[in-house]
Amino acid sequence: MGNSLPIGVFDSGVGGLTVAKEIMSQLPNEKIIYFGDTARVPYGNKSRETVTAYSRQIVKFLLSKRVKAIVIACNTASAFALETIRHEIPVPIIGVVKPGAKTASIATRNGRIGVIGTEGTVNSGIYSEFLHEISPEIKVFGQACPLFVPLVEEGWADDLITEEIARRYLSGLLDKDIDTVVLGCTHYPLLKRVIGKVVGESVVLVNPAYESARELKRVLGEEELLNEEKEVPHHIFYVSDGAEKFREFANSILPCEIIETKDVNVKTF
Ligand code: DGL
Repeated sequence: MGNSLPIGVFDSGVGGLTVAKEIMSQLPNEKIIYFGDTARVPYGNKSRETVTAYSRQIVKFLLSKRVKAIVIACNTASAFALETIRHEIPVPIIGVVKPGAKTASIATRNGRIGVIGTEGTVNSGIYSEFLHEISPEIKVFGQACPLFVPLVEEGWADDLITEEIARRYLSGLLDKDIDTVVLGCTHYPLLKRVIGKVVGESVVLVNPAYESARELKRVLGEEELLNEEKEVPHHIFYVSDGAEKFREFANSILPCEIIETKDVNVKTF
């Protein structure tokens, strides 16, 4: 019975769709309830306390929809809120940072990894922490790229301005002889083309979404929560503002058509 319940996935906005897409591909039987906090995006320049309070409200909202597990499809909220919230709720919850660090540690050949993300994620040092747990030898170089999120939310992923800004942010990292860059914000895979162009082909870009979906599959398997039903799942998308704009954006990214998105006020949760 519990196995047919949905999985809650949330982000500050559209970025988490890059993770939802990967979950749809690796776990095609699972229903998703997505929440994008479009009224309060960005999270990346907000304090740990604020991001944790927002995340807690969203988790309560998702639990009210009877989700069987939750994925924090946001690096900033994973960095700030995951460990606190994990102890407060009755369902499994995973973030995207640990899976991202694992993938990067496997991808690097010279042990020099760049991590790009929001100010919150980069300043938290959480990627270094996980990477050094895997191998203390790894050298990690962080770079916050605060303008990337508004550029993505604005739909300017392929704009010349975006490329120019990417050059400004990434040139310092390239001087560090890194061979791998973690896209440590779920919005950034949407800038993969531009970032790839700037860093060059020899640098591997790591999108934590793939390993996060694998981790979700592992956890659901362990808890005997995998949905074995073969029906095409009906995903539901909620946002805190601008449902129509979000729907259009989501339809340009996801493999399924989203007919409806709903505005919801999570502040009451
Ligand atoms: N996409 C989110 C992340 O992975 C948050 C970006 C933001 O809201 O600043 O960090």
